[in-house]
Amino acid sequence: MTARLVELEPRNAAMAEDAARAAGLTGVQVVVGDAALTDAYADLVPADLVLLCGVFGNVSDADVRATVGHCAAFCATGGTVIWTRHRREPDLVPAICDWFARERFAQIAVGTPADRVGGGVHRHLGRPRPLPSGVTMFHFLPN
Ligand SMILES: C[S@@+](CC[C@H](N)C(=O)[O-])C[C@H]1O[C@@H](n2cnc3c(N)ncnc32)[C@H](O)[C@@H]1O
Repeated sequence: MTARLVELEPRNAAMAEDAARAAGLTGVQVVVGDAALTDAYADLVPADLVLLCGVFGNVSDADVRATVGHCAAFCATGGTVIWTRHRREPDLVPAICDWFARERFAQIAVGTPADRVGGGVHRHLGRPRPLPSGVTMFHFLPN
């Protein structure tokens, strides 16, 4: 099993690296870099599992839509995407689910508005598309 975590801050990446090693997860690669760049994943796609956690709550709606669009390239047929997003108004979660459906993902699970943090699990039913190189999928918004 090979997994890659891409994190901009070296200190956060070092903590993730330590945690992975402590758990004996030798297949986890921790890369210091920009997670928004498609090139960061070029040699690992299509993947069985894609985690988009801590992203959708920090970028514009248009960037969320664009990133969902790239999931059909990230994900193997039958592969799973797990994502997170807060439920503050305007609640984007219904739109995110709709966007995944348009990209031929089946909805496996989605949290309820009562959850403090929303999230979803979707399975790719389509064939993986080629991942475009040199694309920046999103920009983190200032807090
Ligand atoms: C999970 S998000 C949560 C941000 C939230 N608004 C906060 O203030 O805590 C923060 C993490 O994403 C990382 N991050 C931000 N932009 C990134 C990027 N373009 N590529 C990779 N990691 C990024 C940050 O370094 C941080 O570890």
